[in-house]
Amino acid sequence: MRERILGFFPRLKEIEDTSLLDSVIEVWEDVLEMTVFAIDDLGTRKIPFTLLITELVKNDVANTTFVEHVNEVTEAALLLAASLNRNDAGLERDHVIAAANLHDVGKLLEYSVVDDKVVQNESGRKLRHPFLGAAIAFRRDLPLDVIQTIFGHSKELADEKRSLLCKVINRADFFFFHPIRDLLSTS
Ligand SMILES: [Fe+2]
Repeated sequence: MRERILGFFPRLKEIEDTSLLDSVIEVWEDVLEMTVFAIDDLGTRKIPFTLLITELVKNDVANTTFVEHVNEVTEAALLLAASLNRNDAGLERDHVIAAANLHDVGKLLEYSVVDDKVVQNESGRKLRHPFLGAAIAFRRDLPLDVIQTIFGHSKELADEKRSLLCKVINRADFFFFHPIRDLLSTS
């Protein structure tokens, strides 16, 4: 399974801290054991990257897949972090990759499939994917800033409480989400 996960998320191979990489892979393995989706579904449109857009376009899904979204956020976060580091931000590249890669891992636990449609399940409605992902990550040996980013990248955490890493992933995430949402909701 490890090689499949690395195949879906190629930037993971650039994590230099091997124990951090192992922990990231363990989180994916944990979640893939619990989710209704198979690993083969990961790179397909079976898993929407957001149900908010799905609702907007009347249960058709956005063309961007879950894996594409995660990888796009990782690219944007790396660019933003590099720029900030030129200004002495001190962001650790390994942490940027790990946090971007795992920020939406909880979505695999937030979704269920009913009548061939992906819907938000009770865990998703009551806890949402940021908490679900952070809860799994907390059981593994990940830096607290990475776990905070999973928990706080969306609306669960006020901006002033976010670490710089968490802000970077929040901005990278919404850099894509808002324009795609607006595009699809007006088309
Ligand atoms: Fe996201």
